[in-house]
Amino acid sequence: MKFIKVKSYEEMSRQAANIISAQVILKPNCVLGLATGSTPIGTYKQLIEWYKKGDIDFSNTLSVNLDEYVGLDSNNDQSYRYFMENNFFKGINIKAQNTYVPCGIAKDLDKECKEYDENIKKLGGIDLQLLGIGIDGHIGFNEPADSFEKNTHIVDLHESTIEANSRFFADIADVPKKAITMGMVSIMQAKRILLIANGKNKEDILNKALFGPITPKIPASILQLHPDITVIYSEA
Ligand code: GLP
Repeated sequence: MKFIKVKSYEEMSRQAANIISAQVILKPNCVLGLATGSTPIGTYKQLIEWYKKGDIDFSNTLSVNLDEYVGLDSNNDQSYRYFMENNFFKGINIKAQNTYVPCGIAKDLDKECKEYDENIKKLGGIDLQLLGIGIDGHIGFNEPADSFEKNTHIVDLHESTIEANSRFFADIADVPKKAITMGMVSIMQAKRILLIANGKNKEDILNKALFGPITPKIPASILQLHPDITVIYSEA
């Protein structure tokens, strides 16, 4: 594991964007695993800036997102599809048909989960997976549980996650109770992983996840078993 501690959110974002842009430059048709949340916004901003300067070309790049709320469609400004369009995709030249986000309003959610995994396989797996971390140690929406969930699945969000994510909603009652999330197989089979975390409130869980016992009670702890993971943490 490569652990990089930086002084500011801007530096974390710039270093993360550096790693992602290097991946895209080396393999223009790579599959990027992408994340939502407040942490990666600066990374996406930086990548958009470099794209606009002509330094990166995403025209052959593919992306698969980690997760989506169940019940929110792409026009809902709290959906992760909406987030990705607005914080990243519309600022770069990635082709719409090359971007995959689980569909939270699929009639048959189990089928959606199965097809999401099949599609990742068909694309040849993920080259570089960007991850944030929840305060309970979740990655994607893999919540603390008795065992690690292997495949894309539907999850009941924990109270602490609903509460943490309620800051983006008008009312806590509006936060969906369920989500669809990639499981550990697709994440762990990514060739490389880039985990970013920002702020003192993430320090404790980050320490437990990266240096404590590997347990499904702290889903991110499984990342210790990945052969190529870079963690960038900014305490500011
Ligand atoms: C959500 C997402 C995660 C993300 C987490 C942390 O729950 N499903 O992928 O890592 O939030 O979000 P933030 O970066 O806002 O702290």
